[in-house]
Amino acid sequence: MNFADSEIVNSIMVERGMTPSETPEDASVVFINTCSIRDNAERKVWNRLHDFRKMKRQRNGDMVVGILGCMAERLREKFLEKEKLVDLVVGPDAYRELPSLLAEVEDGRKAVNVILSQEETYADITPVRTTGNGVSAFVSVMRGCDNMCSFCVVPFTRGRERSRAVESVLDEFKILSDQGYREVTLLGQNVNSYNHEGRNFAELMYRCSLIDPEMRIRFSTSHPKDFPDEFLQVMQERHNICNYIHIPIQSGNNEVLERMRRTYTREEYLDLIDKMKEMIPGVSLSTDIIAGFCGETEAQHRDTLDVMKRVRYDLAYMFAYSERERTLAHRKFEDDVPGEVKKRRLSEIIQLQQEIAAEQNRLEIGKRHVVLAEGRSKRSAEQLSGRTDTNKMTIFDKGSYQSGDYVEVEIIDANSATLKATALRKVTLSETVAEPITV
Ligand code: 5AD
Ligand code: SF4
Repeated sequence: MNFADSEIVNSIMVERGMTPSETPEDASVVFINTCSIRDNAERKVWNRLHDFRKMKRQRNGDMVVGILGCMAERLREKFLEKEKLVDLVVGPDAYRELPSLLAEVEDGRKAVNVILSQEETYADITPVRTTGNGVSAFVSVMRGCDNMCSFCVVPFTRGRERSRAVESVLDEFKILSDQGYREVTLLGQNVNSYNHEGRNFAELMYRCSLIDPEMRIRFSTSHPKDFPDEFLQVMQERHNICNYIHIPIQSGNNEVLERMRRTYTREEYLDLIDKMKEMIPGVSLSTDIIAGFCGETEAQHRDTLDVMKRVRYDLAYMFAYSERERTLAHRKFEDDVPGEVKKRRLSEIIQLQQEIAAEQNRLEIGKRHVVLAEGRSKRSAEQLSGRTDTNKMTIFDKGSYQSGDYVEVEIIDANSATLKATALRKVTLSETVAEPITV
């Protein structure tokens, strides 16, 4: 979300006549787009801010520093009072005001706007895309979160859920298709809770998928509560919607899930996973897991490990619980799992996931996939990297292939993070569909 938001900010600044600079040293204005999700995310920002403090001193104060995003929302006064070097504090719904806020700073004042909105979606702002190599792009379709999971600060920093009109998303898709983009990720804090005047995410995805049959569609991130059959049917029927679902479980124990206010049980979650695997054969699944939430016992932790073994996620994002102010967990529960125990449980989770991912990936050896080439691999200019439909990072010899090509490959080797492949031929997405599609 922050990458996508930064692209919107970029666009607003360019409209104002500014140009992006290559390095902070060359910039007259530096914005830090921040995240509050866990304490270590915030710590990284404080460290970065110290670097900028030095830089500003070296330049005799001739540099504007602004804090954007969730930390701006959460810590407004702290930045202005304690951190004298910050000139501007702007929350995630106030980016349109950046030009006038900058004008205030130019007049010698500090500027703040952390007002959250019920409507702002930045639907009419075309982002200046700086990520994705001209091949893949993010399109933000909804913002905010109404779920109030007890551990999570997002509802406080990003405000209420709101969705963009279907037509405005489709228009952005058309532009991206014309510009040659090959992959779009629909983004939202709870993307599958998308709802604009009664039109839901299944309809949005379906309509998006018709715009360009050669453009892949992904989505992130989703909540298990909003997966109607209709949505899985759209995934099943449309060849260009990728067979990959990120579906955070957080914990595998019902009491912990209840305290987390996740609104589903372990059994309901596992039933949903079974349905996904049945309706979308070969579907790839990833998740988010929190280790050491308030009151978590050893047995409850083992329930999480057990669910991981049952689902066999291809990928997981795993975290130690980090208490956040204002959340229900902060007000109601004690952060009583000792740091050392959280750490140990987290490493057990990570180790298990690595084993599962390596096994899952080894099953791919000998299989064929269509990979969208995204750019040169990290290791070598002679190799391209890209992802399979199922979101697995794959590398293969460059040959005469280029970024933006769909390449049919055969997997020849695998570890827990990456597949190695032999490129076979360039293909179109449409020709890889066995049956003509009628919906
Ligand atoms: N502590 C640890 N992890 C958290 N997440 C959200 N809030 C916290 C927290 N307080 C994780 C959840 C969520 C992901 C984006 O971050 O797993 O799905
Ligand atoms: Fe946070 Fe829960 Fe909303 Fe996700 S669904 S952003 S974890 S409150």
